[in-house]
Amino acid sequence: MKLLQSLVLCGTLALLSSGQNAEERSSEEGGISFEYHRYDELRKSLVSVWLQCPSISRIYTIGESFEGRELLVLEMSDSPGVHEPGEPEFKYIGNMHGNEAVGRELLIYLAQHLCNEYQRGNDTIIDLIHSTRIHIMPSMNPDGFEKAASQPGDLKDWFVGRSNAQGIDLNRNFPDLDRIVYINEKEGGANNHLLMDKKAVDENPKLAPETKAVIHWIMDIPFVLSANLHGGDVVANYPYDETRSGSTHEYSASPDDAIFKSLARAYSSFNPIMSDSSRPPCRKNDDDSSFKEGITNGGAWYSVPGGMQDFNYLSSNCFEITVELSCDKFPPEDTLKMYWDQNKNSLINYIAQIHRGVKGFVRDLQGNPISNASISVEGIDHDITSAKDGDYWRLLAPGNYKVSASAPGYLTVMKKVAVPYSPVVRVDFELESLVERQEEEKEELLDWWKMMSETLNF
Ligand SMILES: *[C@@H]1O[C@H](CO)[C@@H](O)[C@H](O)[C@H]1NC(C)=O
Ligand SMILES: *[C@@H]1O[C@H](CO)[C@@H](O)[C@H](O)[C@H]1NC(C)=O
Ligand SMILES: [Zn+2]
Repeated sequence: MKLLQSLVLCGTLALLSSGQNAEERSSEEGGISFEYHRYDELRKSLVSVWLQCPSISRIYTIGESFEGRELLVLEMSDSPGVHEPGEPEFKYIGNMHGNEAVGRELLIYLAQHLCNEYQRGNDTIIDLIHSTRIHIMPSMNPDGFEKAASQPGDLKDWFVGRSNAQGIDLNRNFPDLDRIVYINEKEGGANNHLLMDKKAVDENPKLAPETKAVIHWIMDIPFVLSANLHGGDVVANYPYDETRSGSTHEYSASPDDAIFKSLARAYSSFNPIMSDSSRPPCRKNDDDSSFKEGITNGGAWYSVPGGMQDFNYLSSNCFEITVELSCDKFPPEDTLKMYWDQNKNSLINYIAQIHRGVKGFVRDLQGNPISNASISVEGIDHDITSAKDGDYWRLLAPGNYKVSASAPGYLTVMKKVAVPYSPVVRVDFELESLVERQEEEKEELLDWWKMMSETLNF
């Protein structure tokens, strides 16, 4: 992360936003203005959240779009800028398709809302911010949005501004790790962290700057849970997005199908429109009727190779779903408040899902953290790994599990765990190194030899 740059940016923006007067703000609901925010307005609104809640927020940038707009992130946490050992990290990404504008706006409102509620003393929100590091990126495609927003009223439509400024569809631009895992499923091979060559990412001319920036972000921060907000339909979509056979529609379960369904449901169930099974389809010929309880498997809906959702799951420890927020991709401004009301509780409840399954630390017998240890769950062919401080988070649906921690040079430890829907179960692992074990065995042998020789009077 470019901390220095973000501080300079904040300083500049603080000056910009100080002109905003209090009267203007009070005419809106809790400082939230339910309107579209162009690039400069987006920056200003994030800065005003930061100025209002400086002790629990920070603004940073993960890079620049093709046309040089910053990919801004607002972080909310009780220690901004720091990974606290044991505390899971969450992210929301909006507006990856520049013409899908609702997610961008909802994330701006969410940032303001979290700040307001924290200050009002709302215990739910205070707990959430104290126990979670939350990263909010309202726009992954600021160039596309500017293009879409410049269209005259009725022409804000299906395609203009979808791609980045190079004409690249960012949600088809990620390295296709599904193809690798599908081969590994048949022939054996890794089931996680499949992006081996990070240098190749930087040198790959086919990857858009926005894609590269997000890949680095995913690699640098131990994210556990995430959602990617889109528009054009109303549903919570979960992995895999790409089908195994290559056909257009085919249910493509990931090894974590159970928890992914539960996570998608945690979003849809709080949105009265999304979860309404008698909701008419967005367009006459849409196959929305295949959505059950407002959720769908990605491949079952339609196959997406090179998407960001599956990339998260297969390259990192981050579980991501893709949420479609509205039939209209760029709806009239006066409907934005309605979309906020429909999604507010979903957006908050979904973040709280990060506190499910099992979590803890992997350490050696001296208490030193073991990073990059594998956490495996019997029956689920997808391991996750411990982070720098030996901390790990393993999202799981309710059930009984055998969870193991292993690392090269250590003896594997397995524990049985009963996992409820929530809260998360704390399970720590202490691994004995093989060298230590050998020395112990040698000592035991010597003791035994000494005892025998004394007994037999050698
Ligand atoms: C606090 O926030 C939660 C989550 O958004 C909400 O459900 C609850 O009503 C709020 N509590 C109060 C007292 O406003
Ligand atoms: C993490 O562990 C795996 C398997 O033990 C190994 O292949 C990989 O190189 C390790 N990664 C790092 C960054 O140490
Ligand atoms: Zn989209």
